[in-house]
Amino acid sequence: MTEAAALRVRDLHKSFSTGDETVVVLDGISFELRKNEAVAITGPSGSGKSTLLHLLGALDTPTSGTIEIDGASAFDLKEKDLARFRNQTLGFIFQEHHLLPQYTVLENVLLPTLAFPPAPETAEATALELLERVGLSHRLGHRPTQLSGGERQRAAVARALIQSPKVVLCDEPTGNLDRANADAVAKLLFELHRDAGNVLIVVTHNQELAAQFERKLDLADGKLS
Ligand SMILES: Nc1ncnc2c1ncn2[C@@H]1O[C@H](COP(=O)(O)OP(=O)(O)O)[C@@H](O)[C@H]1O
Ligand SMILES: [Mg+2]
Repeated sequence: MTEAAALRVRDLHKSFSTGDETVVVLDGISFELRKNEAVAITGPSGSGKSTLLHLLGALDTPTSGTIEIDGASAFDLKEKDLARFRNQTLGFIFQEHHLLPQYTVLENVLLPTLAFPPAPETAEATALELLERVGLSHRLGHRPTQLSGGERQRAAVARALIQSPKVVLCDEPTGNLDRANADAVAKLLFELHRDAGNVLIVVTHNQELAAQFERKLDLADGKLS
């Protein structure tokens, strides 16, 4: 038993039933990640990568199996506590930035801190520091539509990290970016991961991005190898 595991996934199964057909997507997934560990999860389209990430993010429940972060299971929590757990323990970065168009860059990054008031007094300072790290100090008052694709995704990275999450979950984070911007976002994810000491999980079919990870897991036929 590895005491230091920050994330422990045991015998995870997920099936979807549509009509009278049941599709087994995850068929017994087990792995552990320590604090400070980063992993790339690769696999063909439709292999269940997003399904796995959704379960890790407690956005969906498994058919069976367990997921623990620092020994705690999100699936044991009541709805309000689950929302707080997601907000404070997990950071999400998707292929789409999901920034809110009516808010500025700074406001978007601060939004997660407002979900369960009071926001920490340090929230704005932390947001400004993160936005500096991702190279957006000169775009604080811009709205998402006034940014380039790379800038939007860098803002999304800052938003995902504002609550210092223990686990950062990325689903094709560079999927919509050109090469130069994809490289910049990948570099940032690594740098910020190293500084924060979080668990970083990146789902990608970008082999160049995957190659930058010491640890890689491949998902196929419902199993990780
Ligand atoms: N909510 C759902 N209902 C039914 N089938 C689903 C649902 N979500 C995903 N699937 C199926 O699970 C499989 C894996 O999907 P997904 O996790 O999105 O794959 P990936 O991210 O690797 O491309 C696909 O066959 C997909 O159709
Ligand atoms: Mg997917």
